[in-house]
Amino acid sequence: MAQTLGAKRVVGVDIDDTLVRAAWKHRRSVWSQQGPDAAGSHEPQSSNSDSGRKRRRLSDSEDDAGSGSRGVPDYFPASCEHMFGALPIPAADPHEKVVDVFPHNVAFRAADWVNNEIPDDAEGYDVVIAFSISKWIHLNYGDEGLLEFFRRVHKVLSPGGVFVLEPQEWDTYGKARRMDPKLKENAKNLKLRPEDFERLLKDIGFGPAEHLGTAGEGGKICN
Ligand SMILES: C[S@@+](CC[C@H](N)C(=O)[O-])C[C@H]1O[C@@H](n2cnc3c(N)ncnc32)[C@H](O)[C@@H]1O
Repeated sequence: MAQTLGAKRVVGVDIDDTLVRAAWKHRRSVWSQQGPDAAGSHEPQSSNSDSGRKRRRLSDSEDDAGSGSRGVPDYFPASCEHMFGALPIPAADPHEKVVDVFPHNVAFRAADWVNNEIPDDAEGYDVVIAFSISKWIHLNYGDEGLLEFFRRVHKVLSPGGVFVLEPQEWDTYGKARRMDPKLKENAKNLKLRPEDFERLLKDIGFGPAEHLGTAGEGGKICN
C-alpha cells in the first residue's frame, strides 16, 4: 500500500514487538531491492507519482529476469543485501515532501491497540484494516474487549472512512482454545459470535457492510 498504491501514510500495528522489528527490517530490505528511478537519480523526489518515486519497484517479470526487460538493472539484489547488508534509507527532508513517499510514508508500532492509543491515531485514518485479528482480541479480552476494539476503530476513522474486517470463523476458535488454558477459560464466557459482528458494527455507527469475499480467499489463511 505504501509502496505501490500511493497511500500518503501507512501505519502497521502489532502487539508483538518482534514482528514490528521484522517489519521495519523488511521495509529497509524492500527499499534496497528497488531499482533506481527511470532517470537513474539516486536522490529522493517529492511527487508520489510512479515517476516521482526515488526508486522504482521492480515488476515480477523484471524480478524473474534478474535485469529488467526495459533495461533496468537489478540495482541491489537480495544477494547483495545478504553480503553487504541493506542500503541505508536517506533521512526524509520535510521540505521535500518525500515524507509522503515510500519508504518514508510507512511506520510500524508495537502496541496493544485494544487498550492503548498510539500517537498516529490522533490524525485519524481513511482506512483501518483488520485481517485475522478479531478472534485473538475476542479470546483475550472477551466480548467487551472486542466491542471496545470496534468502537476504537469507529473513533479513529475519518468521516467517510472504511473499516476492512476479515473476521475468523467461530469454528477456528477451538484450535486457539486448545493451545492456551487462559483463552480456553475466556472462551467459556463469550456470547458474541462472528455472525453478530455486522449488527454490532451497525449499532456502533458504521454504515452498511459490503461483503468482499470469504476469509482466506485469494491467499493463505493466517489464523
Ligand atoms: C493471525 S495474525 C494476523 C496478522 C496479519 N493481520 C495477517 O493477516 O497476516 C494476528 C496478529 O494480531 C496480533 N495481535 C493480537 N492482539 C493484538 C492487539 N491487542 N493489538 C495489536 N496486535 C494484536 C498478533 O500479535 C498477531 O501478529
